[in-house]
Amino acid sequence: MSFMRTLSRSSFGLPKITKSNPFPRQVLPVTYAGGVRYYAARPKTLKERIEELIPEKQEEIKLVKKEHGTKSMGNITVDMIYGGMRGIKGLVWEGSVLDPEEGIEFRNLRISDCREKLPRSKGGEEPLPEGLFWLLVTGEIPTEEQVQALSADWAARSTIPSFVEELIDRCPNTLHPMSQFSLAVTALQHDSNFAKAYQAGVEKKSYWQYVYEDSMDLISKLPNIVGRIYRNVYKDGKVPSIEPNKDYSYNLAKVLGFEDNKDFVELLRLYLTIHSDHEGGNVSAHTTRLVSSALSDPYLSFSAALNGLAGPLHGLANQEVVRWIFNLRDSVGESPSDEVVREYVWNTLKSGKVVPGYGHAVLRKTDPRYMAQRDFALKHLPNDPLFKLVSQLYTIVPEVLLEHGKTKNPWPNVDAHSGVLLQYYGLTEQNFYTVLFGVSRALGVLAQLIWDRAL
Ligand SMILES: CC(C)(COP(=O)(O)OP(=O)(O)OC[C@H]1O[C@@H](n2cnc3c(N)ncnc32)[C@H](O)[C@@H]1OP(=O)(O)O)[C@@H](O)C(=O)NCCC(=O)NCCS
Repeated sequence: MSFMRTLSRSSFGLPKITKSNPFPRQVLPVTYAGGVRYYAARPKTLKERIEELIPEKQEEIKLVKKEHGTKSMGNITVDMIYGGMRGIKGLVWEGSVLDPEEGIEFRNLRISDCREKLPRSKGGEEPLPEGLFWLLVTGEIPTEEQVQALSADWAARSTIPSFVEELIDRCPNTLHPMSQFSLAVTALQHDSNFAKAYQAGVEKKSYWQYVYEDSMDLISKLPNIVGRIYRNVYKDGKVPSIEPNKDYSYNLAKVLGFEDNKDFVELLRLYLTIHSDHEGGNVSAHTTRLVSSALSDPYLSFSAALNGLAGPLHGLANQEVVRWIFNLRDSVGESPSDEVVREYVWNTLKSGKVVPGYGHAVLRKTDPRYMAQRDFALKHLPNDPLFKLVSQLYTIVPEVLLEHGKTKNPWPNVDAHSGVLLQYYGLTEQNFYTVLFGVSRALGVLAQLIWDRAL
């Protein structure tokens, strides 16, 4: 199931959104600058903006169905079916499109565009994930003011119920942080606006409003959840408080104990931005949607996604990568020759294992998310020995995988790099890495969930 493809609007022959014409059907009064849309008048809140966009989107879908409803989207082969729906175009996903050659585009913006165009913190260089969330939901680049309002809203909603705190505190430290994460998110369901509204019999057309509130609450509470897990498992169990006037990544860094390192906070901003969304066919995204299609609320849906993300062929690969690199270092030293590294990679393959961090179901070139992290490393930690080893692998592993001849994509994916950056800044607990991936993934899948209920 993880290989099914999702489609964007242009697949149905709608006017293509391009950089010079980003919103061809747009009728609202806006100004354009640099190929993206900015508001002309009073900044709207995110919820107000969604409300405005819904009728437009509904019309668009009606039109697509009327004009293209019977159009075939391609052949389905037996191989595709036995391959777990591999390559079958099966669903629409609003927020992102994954091009096999170009990598991910968030609402028509590549990662390099996001790094350039999304609002940053004062003096910062990386995009704020709040801006990315706004982009994923609306297709628009928010103003700095709108992003600050979102940071403040998320901080204001961040408190978690005491019974959820106790639940996390009662978990044995030996329970994997991802299992604790999933457990805590399920428990938050106690306060689901959507579940309560559904029980009260609200009408279908207002479902999205409750899903929106749940999604905003859930995203807001994640720092307190994961901070508590981290503090319990690896530290003294005391969780610092969220600061109401700081951005999401700063607060996440703070609960983990890294807020004084501004480069680490910047890394988190980049990390949360690039891991957020990767089309709809991957395990975590598809699971969120699948579970929510039964009208399970966002908490139930996202906790299911976390269980998928915890698999070693999905999010857990970042943990596996660091382990594999440490084993490599332990067995051949910190500065091995290319020949020795090549032999180590071959040994992994000969023992029937995959080389973690390499390969992808859809991508057919180096993951731009890998390149964004490499760019960050070249700027902030060019002489780190572990980064140098990662760079050496970047040249050797693809050669070996090509020679091995099985892997369709021999290039590195996002997970080949993330752990090494976290190690550098002192977040050394590998079992925690996928938890950070999960925080980021919430942004992408919940943005989609709001639209699923609205449409
Ligand atoms: C991501 C991944 C699951 C995609 O799987 P996929 O779509 O089946 O990939 P392919 O079509 O290229 O697989 C063809 C063969 O190459 C193998 N292969 C793929 N990536 C490989 C890797 N990194 N190392 C060794 N073998 C690999 C597959 O296991 C498969 O072997 P099989 O025919 O014996 O089953 C796979 O590349 C992988 O396991 N990578 C390592 C884990 C990882 O980094 N996951 C994070 C993904 S973002």
